[in-house]
Amino acid sequence: MHLSGPLSGKWTATSLGLLSILSTVISPAAAVKEHDFKKCNQSGFCSRNRAYADHALAASSWTSPYTILPESGAFKDGQYQATILKTINDNGDTVRLPLTISFLESGTARVTVDEEKRQKGEIKLRHNSKARKERYNEAEQWVVVGGLELDKKAKVDSKDKTQFTVKYGPTSNFEAVVKFSPFSIDFRRDGASQIKFNDQGLLNVEHWRAKVEKAPEPEPEKKEGDEENKEGEQKDEEKKEEPQGPDESTFWEETFGGNTDSKPRGPESVGLDISFVGFEHVYGIPSHASSLSLKQTRGGEGNYEEPYRLYNADVFEYILDSPMTLYGSIPFLQAHRKGSSVGVFWLNAAETWVDVTKAKDSKNPLALGIGAKTSTHTHWMSESGLLDVFVFLGPTPKDLTTKYAELTGTTAMPQEFAIGYHQCRWNYVSDDDVKDVDRKMDKFKMPYDVIWLDIEYTDDKKYFTWDAHTFKDPIGMGEQLASHGRQLVTIIDPHIKNVENYPVVAELKSKDLAVKNKEGNIFEGWCWPGSSHWIDAFNPKAREWWATLFKYTAFKGTMENTWTWNDMNEPSVFNGPEVTMPKDNLHDGNWEHRDVHNLNGMTFHNATFHALKSRKPGELRRPFVLTRAFFAGSQRVGAMWTGDNTAEWGHLQASIPMLLSQGISGFPFSGADVGGFFGNPDKDLLTRWYQAGIFYPFLRAHAHIDARRREPYLMGEPYNTIIAGALRLRYSLLPSWYTAFHQAHVDGTPIIKPMFYTHPSEEGGLAIDDQLFVGNTGLLAKPITEQGKESADIWIPDNEVYYDYFTYNTVPTSKGKTVTVDAPLHKIPLLMRGGHIFARRDRPRRSSTLMKWDDYTLVVTVGRDGKHAEGDLYVDDGDSYDFEKGQYINRKFVFDGSAKSIVSTDLEGRDTKSIKEGDWLKKMKGVSVDKIIVVGAPSGLFAGKKEVKVESEGKTWTAFVEYNAPEGGRAAFAVIRNVAAPVGADWKIDLS
Ligand code: GLC
Repeated sequence: MHLSGPLSGKWTATSLGLLSILSTVISPAAAVKEHDFKKCNQSGFCSRNRAYADHALAASSWTSPYTILPESGAFKDGQYQATILKTINDNGDTVRLPLTISFLESGTARVTVDEEKRQKGEIKLRHNSKARKERYNEAEQWVVVGGLELDKKAKVDSKDKTQFTVKYGPTSNFEAVVKFSPFSIDFRRDGASQIKFNDQGLLNVEHWRAKVEKAPEPEPEKKEGDEENKEGEQKDEEKKEEPQGPDESTFWEETFGGNTDSKPRGPESVGLDISFVGFEHVYGIPSHASSLSLKQTRGGEGNYEEPYRLYNADVFEYILDSPMTLYGSIPFLQAHRKGSSVGVFWLNAAETWVDVTKAKDSKNPLALGIGAKTSTHTHWMSESGLLDVFVFLGPTPKDLTTKYAELTGTTAMPQEFAIGYHQCRWNYVSDDDVKDVDRKMDKFKMPYDVIWLDIEYTDDKKYFTWDAHTFKDPIGMGEQLASHGRQLVTIIDPHIKNVENYPVVAELKSKDLAVKNKEGNIFEGWCWPGSSHWIDAFNPKAREWWATLFKYTAFKGTMENTWTWNDMNEPSVFNGPEVTMPKDNLHDGNWEHRDVHNLNGMTFHNATFHALKSRKPGELRRPFVLTRAFFAGSQRVGAMWTGDNTAEWGHLQASIPMLLSQGISGFPFSGADVGGFFGNPDKDLLTRWYQAGIFYPFLRAHAHIDARRREPYLMGEPYNTIIAGALRLRYSLLPSWYTAFHQAHVDGTPIIKPMFYTHPSEEGGLAIDDQLFVGNTGLLAKPITEQGKESADIWIPDNEVYYDYFTYNTVPTSKGKTVTVDAPLHKIPLLMRGGHIFARRDRPRRSSTLMKWDDYTLVVTVGRDGKHAEGDLYVDDGDSYDFEKGQYINRKFVFDGSAKSIVSTDLEGRDTKSIKEGDWLKKMKGVSVDKIIVVGAPSGLFAGKKEVKVESEGKTWTAFVEYNAPEGGRAAFAVIRNVAAPVGADWKIDLS
């Protein structure tokens, strides 16, 4: 939510006078602000790079002007270093670009291109700016946390005058064929090309140059005071140096929407074409309100005209089916086809655009395209910084997510409550309001874990304060919540109100910890509080100071169950260019904002995460912080949501591909505002949104300040009961969700998975993005996202048996077919794939915390062969870091029809008895798997049986069996009761 420009505001009534005036004059319909954000042709570097591409691709003989100087090259210990020469004019003048190609132990390759400092002094910056001069090279410090060890076994396999080949990768089946002139790289696996760099010749490193003022006379003449070195002789060459003569009009200054960017360093973009050979589908580069499989971006039917843009921005009421930028960005793209998954991670934090085109490869003109494969060509363009790209050669989707996670880290293990249901709105207006909602949720038997306070809880938008009239007793409120295991989240944004008598802003200024403007003075802009300053979380001192503000003793009114929401951290600046900060603002180390923009939100989120960790000495608990802006690596510090959506069916629908995209892009702890932020959902829409929302890893309802109250219990019947049922379904499955989070924490596996991820060989599923699998449970959900729709067509990816979750009916299926499942309003289309075992906790409770010591139910879905099912369960205390010291339970369950048993063992094969038990593990000894439901129960094992033997740790006892023969479409099922098998111990049920 923002104001952009003096009068084009988000409409709202807030305590801010200006905003409330505006709210009366601006209609919501006027709020879609597509024109507030740049199109490629309004962004100098994007249009130059696109024009460069057009020229190169249209020219009959185009030669990229980038050449490796072979004698400059050396290969050592898994790394190749050389100099690329860029020819910048017809005289053959060149610029030197250091190239490093690193082959990493993980099998990932990394290509980095920098720009050499000029020997004869650096270029003088225009405007006497204080901006740092070299290309931004610190993104790695923020993003990469591991996986950089060089592969000493990588070796040059062959070499001649024109090229050389490096063999690398875990089994040496990867190759990089590096051509000298023009520079290009062909990445191959098992001899077949997968990814090509500069194959189309679009590599473009806009080198630094001195500004040459155009003389009125064309007469060439040396300018006084021009500090450019030999290359400074370029003068007139500037217009010749790019082969097709780039448009120089935005080299040195750029104006958009009345804001002028001073660009002290001039043009400095990096661009590169990356081709995916034989791949028709590419995925990733969130966040966009678009399909999971990315569309083409250079026009044509059904395609976009604009590149996918990555420039974190406050794009409220965003439009759907669009490559427009949103609040966060992850420049990780994956290509997939049957038999191969490969990907690239473009490590650059500046504004970035990605064009996607697809073309049939038809090398043989006589083939007329017959038998030709489609390849996808991507064109990456970033405004500044290094060219720094990681290349993953798969071959499976899981290989990509694992290798990417090795570099950027995995999802932090969440607070267990954080995967429950969150009740939010802008705003709960008083502590009484909060307590009332809390009571009503109980009254209507709707479980929830967290209630949220938006900006109005503060004293006049001063963070770390409370409105003394409306929130008289925050601790009393917190205690009521805590009494049934519930939590409170309060919003803390990065803009600090610029006002007298506010110690936070006084310290921010006196300690000099805020973002600066281009003159090096404290930057001032507008956000919720009116005039504000922004903490510069790039600065370590600022982060240290930030942590002091969260201490219980400093932020009075907060307690152990208070957590944080970081919003507006793109950052949103209502009166700034594109509703954000001027690019020539300065951060710690005098890096320009342009260099670090997409990292900004993550640095703030990270600062808060660490602040929550140090609220009290000795308190070692996992923080919970929600962020709106994010970048690669943000997964290590919290959850994200997709920002200000709208209460429309289309937004509900869009949420599923958006969250699937987050999941495969390394940041799976994600959600969308349930109900839609803007507007008022009708009861059907809200109900369907809850039914879909229970499949979001992060499940939070939220509403705009002007939206009518819509706590789920206000809907009346039958809606209340249906929504309560959906929430309880989520709660009963929390053990399985938590297990999926743990998997994400271990190796970056998505929590909800698209079909291409689970069934990479099924071509029919590669573009499906409206159904999902939950973790390893085999639960296949297809939420209803269309008005009035009462059935769901679910695509079936394999020949397994699928059971309806609620009826145990076997759905008539076969691989690649679509089955239609009934879905009247009360019914969620949810299938169980045969062959899995997943855990539930079936006793309905008010919050997840209250379920902590409840027994488990296992659901066994017997596979088509009637013989096999398996699954796992991870449990820890859901709060501390003791799991890092072995204080957790990690079970593997196997149903084996041949061996006639169900067995629980430690998933990692640990000798659990030797683990020194802390309090939590001790207490878990009293928690059992008490019930097992076997769906598809083979009659040979269960029919007529009344009891079975359970055996654990040398003891044996009896559990009771109830067998239900198949009936109508319903599969046979058996219920084993009173199992009483300790969840943390090895046990076996003998079914013979
Ligand atoms: C932004 C957020 C929204 C929040 C509002 C007020 O628009 O995206 O969720 O309610 O600001 O803080």
